[in-house]
Amino acid sequence: VTARPFLPVVAVVGCGLVGASWAALFAATGRTVFAWDPDPERRRALAGRIAPLRRQLRRLGLAGRGRVTACETLEDAVRDAGWIQENAPENATLKQELFARIEAAAPRAATIGSSTSALLWSDISSTMHKPGRLVVAHPFNPAHLMPLVEIYGPDDVHARKAVRFMRALGKVPVRMRKEAPGHLANRLASALWREAVHLAAEGVADVADIDAALVAGPGLRWSVIGPHLAYHLGGGEGGIAAYLDHLGPSQERRWSSLGSPTLSPDVKAVLVDGVAAEAGGRSIAELERWRDEKLIAALAGSRRKAPAGGKRA
Ligand SMILES: NC(=O)c1ccc[n+]([C@@H]2O[C@H](COP(=O)([O-])OP(=O)(O)OC[C@H]3O[C@@H](n4cnc5c(N)ncnc54)[C@H](O)[C@@H]3O)[C@@H](O)[C@H]2O)c1
Repeated sequence: VTARPFLPVVAVVGCGLVGASWAALFAATGRTVFAWDPDPERRRALAGRIAPLRRQLRRLGLAGRGRVTACETLEDAVRDAGWIQENAPENATLKQELFARIEAAAPRAATIGSSTSALLWSDISSTMHKPGRLVVAHPFNPAHLMPLVEIYGPDDVHARKAVRFMRALGKVPVRMRKEAPGHLANRLASALWREAVHLAAEGVADVADIDAALVAGPGLRWSVIGPHLAYHLGGGEGGIAAYLDHLGPSQERRWSSLGSPTLSPDVKAVLVDGVAAEAGGRSIAELERWRDEKLIAALAGSRRKAPAGGKRA
């Protein structure tokens, strides 16, 4: 952590699950954070929510001593910020109204990053005076630990600034050239989960075994190498071109057999019962702690590894 980090003053707008994680990461990388949430209870609780997240980040070597101040007004929070991370509820109209207030109060050069999971940049920016200053900067939950951030914004200056900033935080930014609902990672995750639900609904395996098949198989491989580069290796000396010639038809046959489930009451029951069996009585909080411990161990073990697939933006 440098004495004066790139973009030293940041604002966090919306202090729920994702906002608290961002605030912890910004502070742990030495930034001064001004946070705001319309709910006074959220503002009061913020320090307590952030403390354990900062302890986790310290274990990964992020021990910056940035301060987090919960502000009474949005305007106070954004007044001096070079970067504003918006984490309000997933509602386009609400975000548009928020951006109007932010634009009126923030420095002209500030970039606004939106954590939106599935809203389109073109929608949420459509009522802004200077839409170019908005970029989608979508983290993956838990946002303080997971390296991925998906960046989309048609203004090259702000999008590049976003990529640089995210790298300075130790993140792995991936820049999208076009917008898509759900960006990249959640679309990929949705495609995979659709098939997982199909397999559970058809009774091919229990929910726990389907999860295990992913975690112990492709999941582990994908934590190192993305699917395209993995199939490049699957083609031997001839690489992906040879793979496509040799096993492309077999992939196409598999694609045509993939399921397209609906979330009917019966399918929901299979999932809820299956997950209850897999959780084995562990509470959500216990499962979160267990997940975070595993993630921290994996991250500590893979320090500074190259991102799987994808050139740097
Ligand atoms: N939960 C996830 O896994 C996840 C992951 C990545 C991105 N996101 C995105 O992050 C954003 C926030 O999601 P979350 O899960 O933290 O939700 P959350 O419900 O935990 O937090 C939302 C917060 O926004 C506050 N809020 C309500 N109205 C507001 C307003 N007008 N202005 C500012 N804040 C307002 C609420 O009081 C609450 O504290 C959403 O856009 C979501 O799509 C969520």
